Amino acid sequence: MIVAIDGPAGAGKSTVARALAERLSFRYLDTGAMYRALTWLAMHRGLDLGAGAALAELARAEPVVFDAEGRVWIGGKDVTSSIREQRIDRMVPVVARHTPVREVMRERQRELGRDGDVVIEGRDIGTVVAPNAEVKVYLVADRDERARRRMADRPGIGADALATDLRMRDEKDAERMQPAEDAREIDTTGLNVEDVVERIEALVRERTAA
Ligand code: DC
Repeated sequence: MIVAIDGPAGAGKSTVARALAERLSFRYLDTGAMYRALTWLAMHRGLDLGAGAALAELARAEPVVFDAEGRVWIGGKDVTSSIREQRIDRMVPVVARHTPVREVMRERQRELGRDGDVVIEGRDIGTVVAPNAEVKVYLVADRDERARRRMADRPGIGADALATDLRMRDEKDAERMQPAEDAREIDTTGLNVEDVVERIEALVRERTAA
């Protein structure tokens, strides 16, 4: 079974998807980490982030690997923490917007999500990567709440800078952020992680029973 969890930055996707995967003993696939890792490698090599075809080639040549501990590797380097830096937050939408890059990523994501039960987190999982996912969820939260959550993830960055980054990323990501027609929308603003996980778990159970 595939559980697709989409939504904007700060809506709670990662925390919820990880907790859900653990609860259900499903695998967990973080597709945002894949775009982040590619962005990291492209910047590390000094490539032009506007060159879609060259970036797609890089993505094909240097596939992102998740090890058994869930650490993220690209080009032989463990980039688990570097991909969460603000400079990556800022540049990843520039890389993610290229169609040829998305095509390579989509194939790799399908490959990684193919066997067994998996929770896949991203922006276009329910619409493009896994349109046949058995359960589709679209998480949203109001912007102030999302900015607050980001602050907890990014200590050392000011509130104003974070709010501006979030708004800019929303705008850049917007074209890929349409919920699937058959996704269940959950507003996580006033909910804790446990509440959200339970709601999705109930959807999984409904689906398993059907
Ligand atoms: O979820 P995140 O913040 O780690 O995602 C990082 C970036 O990658 C985000 O700006 C949008 C992009 N992304 C995407 O375009 N498609 C996905 N399936 C996942 C992430």
